[in-house]
Amino acid sequence: MNSLFEQLKTKAVSNRQRIILPESTEPRTLRAANQIIADNVADVILIGNKTEILAQAATMQLPHIEKAQVIDPDNSEAVEKYAQLFYELRKSKGITIDDARKKVKDPLYLGCLIIKNGEADGQVAGAMNTTGNVLRAAFQVLKTQPGVSTVSGAFIMLLPGGSPYGERGIMVFADCAVVPDPDAKQLAEIAVLTERTARDLAGINPKVAMLSFSTKGSAKHERVDKVVEATQLAKEMNPNMEIDGELQADAALVPSVGASKAPGSAIAGKANVLVFPDLGVGNIAYKLVQRLAGATAVGPVLQGLGAPVNDLSRGCNEDDIYKTILLTCNQAIARKA
Ligand code: ACO
Repeated sequence: MNSLFEQLKTKAVSNRQRIILPESTEPRTLRAANQIIADNVADVILIGNKTEILAQAATMQLPHIEKAQVIDPDNSEAVEKYAQLFYELRKSKGITIDDARKKVKDPLYLGCLIIKNGEADGQVAGAMNTTGNVLRAAFQVLKTQPGVSTVSGAFIMLLPGGSPYGERGIMVFADCAVVPDPDAKQLAEIAVLTERTARDLAGINPKVAMLSFSTKGSAKHERVDKVVEATQLAKEMNPNMEIDGELQADAALVPSVGASKAPGSAIAGKANVLVFPDLGVGNIAYKLVQRLAGATAVGPVLQGLGAPVNDLSRGCNEDDIYKTILLTCNQAIARKA
């Protein structure tokens, strides 16, 4: 494990959080859960049938699973309170209590409701479920953090050793996962939340570049105007953050290009947080850096939700799940601080 995750693990161990894993019979999830418990990283809550989970753990030789708390969506007494809670949260959307009782059978929803009820700190899912399903449950139950209207997804990019970019080779990119076409206010929020993610999780001193195909007015287009407006709004939302835009990627990253295209900018040539103008750019950019530059992409880290929930790729392995649990614990710790 690299030093970033060692640090996240140390913090998680010293301030244990309660993490829900709704995909409890999924083998990679069960292996990651076993290791998390063995390493004293978090208190694990599994959603499912206890007999089935323990039988599978025994077959897979995962002795620590018996220390996990298990909540059974078929235990009608325990689940009724969450159905009532979901009904209260969603009745204005036209759902009935019977709809709510059906919904809480879905472990993704039940997990979020347990968090909403204050009985857990975060959730990790997505080894079996699509991004849309993981996000929709979280949006409907946990909604957004106070003062935030739009959830977005950041990647912590660990560049190969010796890279001159980022802080100690660490950069943060967003939004790469959630908001297809953000307006200026949403883009400003993405910048503010990503700055916080860079500080709280990536452990870097964020220098935020608002990226565009234009640097400081070199091109005129409504898409450039959006980035200029978002930069201004982000400065108003968080006057303390170090941010500049609009900048092209080379001006943001390369000191000589930054000095010639954006003289006097405190960010040009030094950026370690890149905010992309829309999801098309952000999703393609992180995958290109991952594949062509050999970077490790950690995430997406969902930012702005009412409580930490993170989504896995369905192609993930148990180590990815373990690391996503570490990130989720650290998001919960940062919230409480
Ligand atoms: N932030 C906060 N709340 C949101 C957001 C958001 N970004 N998006 C939707 N919501 C809320 C809505 O307000 C609504 O709330 P309400 O029911 O209380 O009124 C609820 O979520 C459902 O909204 P819909 O518009 O119906 O959402 P939908 O289910 O259509 O879409 C989704 C949400 C799935 C996240 C959609 O935005 C999406 O598909 N985004 C792209 C995800 C993706 O495919 N990413 C790329 C792959 S991930 C990767 O490569 C790492």
